[in-house]
Amino acid sequence: MNVIVSITGATGSIFGIRILEILKDIKEVKTHLILSSWGKKTLEAETNYTMEEVEQLADFIYETADLGARISSGSFQVDAMIIAPCSMKTLASIRIGLADNLVSRAADVILKERRKLILLTRETPLNTIHLENMLALSKMGTIILPPMPAFYNNPQTINDIVNHIAYRTVDQLGIILPNLKRWDGLREK
Ligand SMILES: Cc1cc2nc3c(=O)[nH]c(=O)nc-3n(C[C@H](O)[C@H](O)[C@H](O)COP(=O)(O)O)c2cc1C
Repeated sequence: MNVIVSITGATGSIFGIRILEILKDIKEVKTHLILSSWGKKTLEAETNYTMEEVEQLADFIYETADLGARISSGSFQVDAMIIAPCSMKTLASIRIGLADNLVSRAADVILKERRKLILLTRETPLNTIHLENMLALSKMGTIILPPMPAFYNNPQTINDIVNHIAYRTVDQLGIILPNLKRWDGLREK
């Protein structure tokens, strides 16, 4: 299974990193990483990971400017693309089909080939443009998965919250992860 993972310049680059860490342990998955230039900047500002450490988590890496990359073409078989986090700028460019960098071009290809696109859209509060862009892409089958914390699993640390969202994202690929705490109905304490 080929999965494109992109980290763009919204806050929460740790979500993309954690998703890469989970996918690295899954033998049948090959990851293709695209870091936007603002994705790189937020990652450096928000995490203790170096760029090299993040790049080593992926099987293949690409430059955002490289519109000649194989993932820029529908003839290369990719199963899914996850953008985590997805900035409102990247969301907008996908919605209008801009395809002016490898992130929006690869997403455009995913949509035209009717493959799976998962967007961890991150902004708050949301304006009408953001909401309309998400609605338009959702109507085309895109999974809009804002990284919103859940509390029913009693997270104790930020790491617990990040992991839960990363597991829920990987769940969307149809990969069953034993670590995901699933809601099993209300029980008496
Ligand atoms: C520290 C930091 C945090 C940001 N957080 C967000 C955010 O949560 N959501 C968002 O849409 N943009 C956010 N931005 C702005 C984007 O980085 C900016 O719109 C950029 O053009 C996105 O480009 P890209 O999608 O190509 O990475 C943030 C910028 C910085 C420097």
